[in-house]
Amino acid sequence: MPLIPLRPLLDHAAANGYGVCALNVNNMEQIQSIMEAARATLSPVIVQASRGARTYTNDIFLRNLMQAAVELYPEIPVVMHQDHGNAPDTCISAIRMGFTSVMMDGSLEEDAKTPAGYEYNVAVTREVVQIAHSFGVSVEGELGCLGQLGTGMGEKEDGHGAEGKLSLDQLLTDPAQAVDFVQRTGIDALAVAIGTSHGAYKFSSKPTGDVLRIDRIQEIHSKIPNCHLVMHGSSSVPEELVAEINKYGGAMKNTYGVPVAEIQKGIKAGVRKINVDTDNRLAITAAIRKVFATSPEKFDPRDYLKPSRTAMQKICEQRMKEFGQAGKAPGVPRKSLAEMAADYAAGKYGDPAKPSKPYNAFKGQGGAATAMGH
Ligand code: G3H
Ligand code: 13P
Ligand code: ZN
Repeated sequence: MPLIPLRPLLDHAAANGYGVCALNVNNMEQIQSIMEAARATLSPVIVQASRGARTYTNDIFLRNLMQAAVELYPEIPVVMHQDHGNAPDTCISAIRMGFTSVMMDGSLEEDAKTPAGYEYNVAVTREVVQIAHSFGVSVEGELGCLGQLGTGMGEKEDGHGAEGKLSLDQLLTDPAQAVDFVQRTGIDALAVAIGTSHGAYKFSSKPTGDVLRIDRIQEIHSKIPNCHLVMHGSSSVPEELVAEINKYGGAMKNTYGVPVAEIQKGIKAGVRKINVDTDNRLAITAAIRKVFATSPEKFDPRDYLKPSRTAMQKICEQRMKEFGQAGKAPGVPRKSLAEMAADYAAGKYGDPAKPSKPYNAFKGQGGAATAMGH
């Protein structure tokens, strides 16, 4: 089965009350871990690549690894998503590379550090929707900046994210503004700011409702029920993985992530896409450190990459079951990009989602009916 767009998967998730984890990849082993977890649990999957991941892998390697994934696991519906596109150009190059879904993160300026003005966010997101929808590609936007509600600090931990101290207005998505944003941009999914942040250091103690505002999700969802909500920074940072890393020579500080039970409340309140990267990074690192520490004589990379692949698969399977996507693969509509493009053009997803310019996406030179054909 070719890659599918994000929209029909999240429509199916909404109709059946489940969430789907969006898992970041940077190499072959991570893609294999996700696909094996999907097969074991019969889950649809969202595989996503950040700008850093695309640079690290090289787009051509990534595209062909994803092609291998869909060929080898034909029973699994797979979405290929651009994570945190910083500008329209990044999203357009992703579409050309065969991604079936893109995130235009206009909550920050193109430098991916400076909080952006609202009108800038609307303009760049709208521009991406116009282009992406004409190719049948789905679009995620973001309103509000990720960061810690307790300290007001932006979340530059991983080298991207807002810098410095932000106001509560910037750190929490405003439900009324979300209505205007969706209306004016026509996005398929909206990432919300509710106190989560990327990386391992999200909270200094187990988060309570004042620093992790799951209540805000219900408020936003009730106002934009047809736009799917996305939770970024949703790793749970299992303490046993942090302990394992430290046991084998690591130096991680005490930290707390987003408890799975809180994510499950979010799913009940309308969250459909849940971004998880750090938990897999922790699982991989713990497994590799263990081999290095306990078998220092080993030097064949397969001796530590295999256990790391298994460790990531275990986390992925766990989240797939916890978020409710396990068992849902057979029911997901196998919609092609061409069908989606026709539906957007016909106004099936509402007028704001309708491209105003015909791009002849599937006609003539450069056009193709499958994601990998662009
Ligand atoms: O957006 C955050 C993801 O964890 C990707 O991180 O930019 O280091 O690849 P990255
Ligand atoms: P974590 O760092 O919590 O895994 O979040 C990943 C993410 O939001 C990717 O966009
Ligand atoms: Zn993110």
